[in-house]
Amino acid sequence: MKFFIDTANLEQIKEAQALGILDGVTTNPSLMAKEGINGEENVKKHYQAICEIVDGDVSAEVIATDFEGMIKEGEALAALHDQIVVKIPMIKDGVKALKYFSSKGIKTNCTLVFSAGQALLAAKAGATYVSPFIGRLDDISTDGLNLISEIRHIYDNYGFETEILAASVRHTMHVIDCAKIGADVMTGPLSSIEGLLKHPLTDIGLEKFLADHKKNQ
Ligand code: E4P
Repeated sequence: MKFFIDTANLEQIKEAQALGILDGVTTNPSLMAKEGINGEENVKKHYQAICEIVDGDVSAEVIATDFEGMIKEGEALAALHDQIVVKIPMIKDGVKALKYFSSKGIKTNCTLVFSAGQALLAAKAGATYVSPFIGRLDDISTDGLNLISEIRHIYDNYGFETEILAASVRHTMHVIDCAKIGADVMTGPLSSIEGLLKHPLTDIGLEKFLADHKKNQ
């Protein structure tokens, strides 16, 4: 399972990268705005800065919602760095854009996916990644993890190569449940990754080992 961090915060990206288990980064316009990154040029520079920190794929989202606009923007983003994955929303022109980029060998991440039907379309269009937003489904009393299971089932039926990128992961249990279901990738905040580390018996055990070691000195 690949671990992506879902942030545009360079310090958090560095921290996750330093752990040695980071496979990539996802961002979106809201995450960019949260870091105060405004204007096309600054946004591009920020993507480049992220690519310099991590080794893996970095999703960069288009703002245009029409086919021509998405192609123009996506090609410019892809030209920034070979780690850039063009993030395209699940809308009609987005499906066309996914197909276009896939035919050009440019990696894509189909974002804002909330149903199995949308995921099926993304795979048919050749998306590299499909991003079902599990946390946002949970927020409206719908089972986000069930969507991951449905997509896994459908993709396995036909051998689709599109990777299931569980997005809108909010906490550690989402990560574990997605791993059980067989999501290919998860993207979440640093806390969802660091939460995997924690167990009180580890802390108690370590404390005891160190205390016993000290007694023998
Ligand atoms: C995915 O690529 C999105 O950036 C993200 O996971 C959205 O998560 P949120 O619902 O926590 O905003």
